[in-house]
Amino acid sequence: MDLCDIGLIGLGVMGRNLVLNIADHGFSVAGYDLKKENIDRLKHEKNADHAVAAADSILKLSGLLKKPRAIIILVPAGDAVDSVIDELLPVLDEDDLIIDGGNSHFTDTNHRIDIVSKKGIKYLGMGVSGGETGARYGPSMMPGGSKEGFERVRPILESAAAKATDEPCVAYLGQSSVGHYVKMIHNGIEYGIMQLLAESYDLMHRGLGYSARQLAKIFDRWNHEELNSYLVEITADIFTKMDNDTGNLLVDKILDCADQKGTGMWMACDALSLNQQVPIPTINQAVQMRNMSMQKRERKAASETLSGPSIHFDGDKDQWTDQLGRALYAAMIITYGQGMAQLRKANKTYKYNTDLSTVARIWRGGCIIRSGLLENIMDAFNENTDLSNLLLDPDLSRRVADRQSDLRDIIKTAVLWGLPVPGFMACLAYFDAYRCARLPANLIQAQRDYFGAHTYQRIDSEGVFHTAWT
Ligand code: 6PG
Repeated sequence: MDLCDIGLIGLGVMGRNLVLNIADHGFSVAGYDLKKENIDRLKHEKNADHAVAAADSILKLSGLLKKPRAIIILVPAGDAVDSVIDELLPVLDEDDLIIDGGNSHFTDTNHRIDIVSKKGIKYLGMGVSGGETGARYGPSMMPGGSKEGFERVRPILESAAAKATDEPCVAYLGQSSVGHYVKMIHNGIEYGIMQLLAESYDLMHRGLGYSARQLAKIFDRWNHEELNSYLVEITADIFTKMDNDTGNLLVDKILDCADQKGTGMWMACDALSLNQQVPIPTINQAVQMRNMSMQKRERKAASETLSGPSIHFDGDKDQWTDQLGRALYAAMIITYGQGMAQLRKANKTYKYNTDLSTVARIWRGGCIIRSGLLENIMDAFNENTDLSNLLLDPDLSRRVADRQSDLRDIIKTAVLWGLPVPGFMACLAYFDAYRCARLPANLIQAQRDYFGAHTYQRIDSEGVFHTAWT
């Protein structure tokens, strides 16, 4: 077989499917994995009509590739990536390209770029979103790092990527670790929207007493209206899936403890860090509620001693459900807004200077947070490349303003029912705080200066002041 166009290390769910996707588009791919069974599985694929080769070692893989080489790594984030790079460095030549397609932390990517560039090797940190189906038939890909390296593999990535309005959902996002930073933002927004959907389900299920069939119907209807999105679509499917073992609805049999590999938490940590200080309350709450969900034992014990209001509803359920849909739409816009505001700040803090309209453009297909809203978000940043917040875009601002009363009403009902909706509440609090010219932080400054002489500024004169309060 001739030398291959590209190599891929890590033939797990994502890696194997991306190999097949790339081969489907006429490029030859050589794959390697630590596990022999994964290599053998690819050898079987080799007999199919895919132009794929299987290598038994990283050294052999390097010999199967056209030069300068390009190799995608798709292994779990952390030490596994470093181990693969350690094995690759001795067998690669100057000008070869490494593409890390895992969910690596952006600071790890910065470090790895430093290491490989000492040998003249090019590096791309590339977020890949869309799960197994995305990898196989078209993910959204978010590469950052070596521009020259990207141009070399652009045809392969563009052919394998998902398409939205015939445009590939991949684009060069800028220097250094911006690709993994954008993927982290994507995942934080994913956490936030998933939390809002979980709260919506709770309100309709425990609040209105809706059955799975009714929930499936509502989410499916929403998916065909303004809430059209991948996460709403799969949620509708989830409420139709029966459990083969018990004949009951599968989701009712799933333990209410939400795991997390950590990308949402990473985003929250970076936003809270002093070098960013970006408010992202909805994403913070999404992470916190996953943590709360993991306290199953305590919550079960507490449920036997702590009580709240009983749930009554004598209104029009259909009308209330429509209101919930409008509140969810407004909350989704506010959640995307928080994520993009953090990315905009990171552009300055980390000198990424990535184009936010391009980011929204490549999220329109293939990725987990793909939705109709991303068309409006892309347009908003096209209109104003330095838009400081989506809430200030005339179109999106109106969409939120038209639905803020729904958001308030839903939260009021949830509070009276005693159902936790911290995601919705965080969205409303963010909206009310962001539009407030004077927050009560003056009192906090006074308190800090009172007990700690930390000083304060004044609204009526320049300078820094301290008062002897006692
Ligand atoms: C994607 C997903 C994926 C993520 C899983 C698990 O874009 O395809 O975001 O990258 O790793 O969804 O994420 P958590 O375990 O953090 O929920």
